[in-house]
Amino acid sequence: MSSEKRTREKPIRTGSIAFRIGLSSGLNLLLIFIVLDVVLFWVLLWPRIQDGSGYAEITIEDFNAFKLLLTEWKADIVLRLEGLLVVLWVLFETLKVRAKLRPLQEFADAALKLSELDGETEQRYQKLENAIDMLSPAEEDQMLATGDAELAGLETAVNKLMTRMRDSYRQQARFVSDASHELRTPIAVIRGYADLLDRWGKTDEKILEESIAAIKDESESMQHLVEQLLFLARGDSGRTPLNVSDFDVSDMMKEVWEESAMIDAAHDYRFESGGAIPARGDVSLIKQAARILIENASKYTPEGGEIMLRSLVSDGHPAFSVQDSGIGISESDIPHIFERFYRADDSRSKQTGGSGLGLAIAKWIVERHGGRFEIISRKDIGTRITVILQ
Ligand SMILES: Nc1ncnc2c1ncn2[C@@H]1O[C@H](COP(=O)(O)OP(=O)(O)OP(=O)(O)O)[C@@H](O)[C@H]1O
Ligand SMILES: [Mg+2]
Repeated sequence: MSSEKRTREKPIRTGSIAFRIGLSSGLNLLLIFIVLDVVLFWVLLWPRIQDGSGYAEITIEDFNAFKLLLTEWKADIVLRLEGLLVVLWVLFETLKVRAKLRPLQEFADAALKLSELDGETEQRYQKLENAIDMLSPAEEDQMLATGDAELAGLETAVNKLMTRMRDSYRQQARFVSDASHELRTPIAVIRGYADLLDRWGKTDEKILEESIAAIKDESESMQHLVEQLLFLARGDSGRTPLNVSDFDVSDMMKEVWEESAMIDAAHDYRFESGGAIPARGDVSLIKQAARILIENASKYTPEGGEIMLRSLVSDGHPAFSVQDSGIGISESDIPHIFERFYRADDSRSKQTGGSGLGLAIAKWIVERHGGRFEIISRKDIGTRITVILQ
């Protein structure tokens, strides 16, 4: 930040502008009076000219008679009245315009005051600029503190902004570190099997088959993880556009029900339709959120268990739910399950596999549509997650 020399500005005076406008308006009125007077003059003189003395000439008698007429008509009073009216009009217009320009005057005064900072204020701003320059976004406890009571409000605002920036910086840093940790594990496993193959795989057929199967498995889950990470990274940077269209929630859920039942024969999939439920959004992304919930239901429900899909209207909003008869989520875990990389029980999740990103992706999609989740879960009885759209 650099401190620029502030130059002395010329003040704006709206009073003189208002007077000039008032004067020009008064001159217009004067012009109107002159025209009216001339017309009146001719209207009064006309009968005298007509009166036998011909069109072209105006005799001295005519003129004297006209002067008498003017005195009778009290012309001098009329002229004075007109003059007074013009002066009053100038005054009235000036005051009116001045009142209208008052906000402009106040604004100009404030701007002038700012541009004419005295030495003390100048020093104060300099101190603030220096203190902001010294701030480092990476240092956790560092806050802006100049000790100047008048700058306290400004300092609080800057400090709040810094805290928000640090929070988001910390979140990003944690995400990157968790992501690299998650990627390191499958890479290490693949390397291990490659070594095994190198040593004994050429001669031992059992090791050969086992290693190939493990490498395939690990690379598949790694591909899945990379896709999830890319989705979230793209979402964070605002590079996931929504392809918004009208769709029917029941039609969408029927499609995912049919495909789930076809892919996963180990569970009993059911679908309860709530009739025609119109909604608006990116249907392929919302379908992806539904698939994430169904995948979890299937992963955390013992074989043969029932998984119920529903389309419904909740408080007038289009909604859908996925209910399983699985292991359930403990109350203390529920607030965290949407966090990136969070898995309710590490050892259990290791058995079932997964990185803990599924629900974070579903949350991103639902919130992007202005929607929300409702969760009901009981340990060893089951879980129902409802997505309520806007
Ligand atoms: N239907 C469910 N029943 C029981 N626990 C669940 C259910 N859905 C989610 N959870 C818990 O919430 C955690 C987070 O779910 P999430 O889908 O984000 O991750 P994941 O399933 O472990 O991995 P990923 O979906 O990335 O493959 C899971 O690890 C699990 O502990
Ligand atoms: Mg999951």
